[in-house]
Amino acid sequence: MTSYKTLGLVNTREMFAKAVSGGYAIPAYNFNNMEQLQAIIMACVETKSPVILQVSRGAWDYANINLLRNMAKGATEYAHELGYDIPICLHLDHGDSFETCKDCIDNGFSSVMIDGSSLPYDENVAVTRKVVEYAHKYDVTVEGELGVLAGIEDDVAAEVSHYTQPSEVIDFVSKTGVDSLAISIGTSHGANKFKPEQCTRNADGILIPPPLRFDILHEIEAKLPGFPIVLHGSSSVPQEYVKIINEHGGALKDSVGIPEEQLREAAKSAVCKINIDSDGRLAMTAAIRLYFDEHPEAFDPRKYLSPARAELKKMYMHKNINVLGSANRA
Ligand code: G3H
Ligand code: 13P
Ligand code: ZN
Repeated sequence: MTSYKTLGLVNTREMFAKAVSGGYAIPAYNFNNMEQLQAIIMACVETKSPVILQVSRGAWDYANINLLRNMAKGATEYAHELGYDIPICLHLDHGDSFETCKDCIDNGFSSVMIDGSSLPYDENVAVTRKVVEYAHKYDVTVEGELGVLAGIEDDVAAEVSHYTQPSEVIDFVSKTGVDSLAISIGTSHGANKFKPEQCTRNADGILIPPPLRFDILHEIEAKLPGFPIVLHGSSSVPQEYVKIINEHGGALKDSVGIPEEQLREAAKSAVCKINIDSDGRLAMTAAIRLYFDEHPEAFDPRKYLSPARAELKKMYMHKNINVLGSANRA
């Protein structure tokens, strides 16, 4: 058993309390390799932002849990070396079972998500309750989910979203004891969040997605005043990256994300954790494609990963400062 407290990590409790009262959101960035982690830590130290490092089940399979745990420990030391001890949480993203969550808690994670959103309601309550009972013994915080996002949630693919029903949230939170709740109000995972027929097109032919359901968010906030709410699927799919990718050999079609103004608005509410993964993938891929096109002779990974890491850092800094409002909150 490795306690996260020995790794220099923190759980989400204080982060979320401050974010809810301060009207901003904590960035939850996914990572599975060193360059992503360096970019996240450099950006969050430079903007003095707290951060949640997220590991998905897919990242665990890709990178190995021992390596990921020690990378997170290294991240706290790296932040210190860069000159500022920002609060860093290591979080399991979309935990698929009690066993996965327990493994992460036993391996130094300070926060876990149990995603029972595709289960019948009573089963979601039961598995979430079980995770909370185990996690709280070790002061690890737990995120539950109600409502289903369209797109891929790890291995769970949903064709259409099912919005969170505000009538269920009080019962779910009180029966499970979760510390935060992920809700479905129109975001979805990946770089193709909406079908073209769900969107309108502007004069430049860019797809404009349907607006988030702020009415549902406000109803949930009224039922759970001050309770931490989480938004998954919150990449904005910057069109400049899509353009670079497609102009340099890529083939992304109808890629569309959540407009930043809507995320900014959400961050001012009880939404205190905003999950961003796809935008990082796009930033890295755009930088690497561009580099290869301009340097066909390159074969040293450090050469093409350096601009990718720099682009990632720039993007995370922009999110912290201009979208989530988490800059200068550490
Ligand atoms: O919510 C899903 C995350 O973007 C993780 O995706 O399972 O491909 O690592 P992944
Ligand atoms: P995006 O695919 O929109 O980046 O969402 C990531 C996410 O929700 C991770 O849990
Ligand atoms: Zn997610």
